Amino acid sequence: MEKETGLNLLISREEIDNIVMSLAVRIEKDYHDKNPLVICILKGSFVFTSDLVRHLGINLEVEFIRTSSYGLGTQSCGQVKLVSDTVTDIRDRHVIIIEDIIDTGITTSFVFDYLKGRNPASLRICSLLSKPSRRKVNITIDYPGLDIPDKFVVGYGLDCAEKYRNLPEIYFIEEEETCQQD
Ligand code: IMP
Ligand code: MG
Repeated sequence: MEKETGLNLLISREEIDNIVMSLAVRIEKDYHDKNPLVICILKGSFVFTSDLVRHLGINLEVEFIRTSSYGLGTQSCGQVKLVSDTVTDIRDRHVIIIEDIIDTGITTSFVFDYLKGRNPASLRICSLLSKPSRRKVNITIDYPGLDIPDKFVVGYGLDCAEKYRNLPEIYFIEEEETCQQD
């Protein structure tokens, strides 16, 4: 795919692979006997989740939740809605939430509280990326990938107005005001 101007490489394919593999090693060690339920938060986490689970050589199940948190622009409007829910009953299951990026933390915190209310045996968070300087709510990331600066990033599942999810690497975008999020 031809790269457009305004996209600057932040994390190469090789760096992403290394992060995903090191997260998988830790998760595998902790969950080898637990048949965890891995919950992918759509849409942004679909690429990360599919790479991560293929590095996990343990029994596991995959589920999907879709949230929507943004109004227009790149700032979270702070109102998270559940757009679609898991089908599997999570009661007494060992659940791992898979996030692409934690920015203000509002979305992940909403998902965490919602799932906690459904009485899983355990509930942990894995996030490929995090922007600690933007945090508005406290979140413990049990399996953190990489901290990045306060820049809007795209690629590897992450979008700007639904564009760029298919880029294999992660780029930061210069004109982030053009990114309309749902
Ligand atoms: P939060 O609620 O502010 O933590 O935002 C979480 C969601 O916002 C993520 O799951 C992404 O969908 C989106 N998001 C936050 N920062 C970025 C970014 O830099 N690029 C693309 N999407 C982002
Ligand atoms: Mg998005």
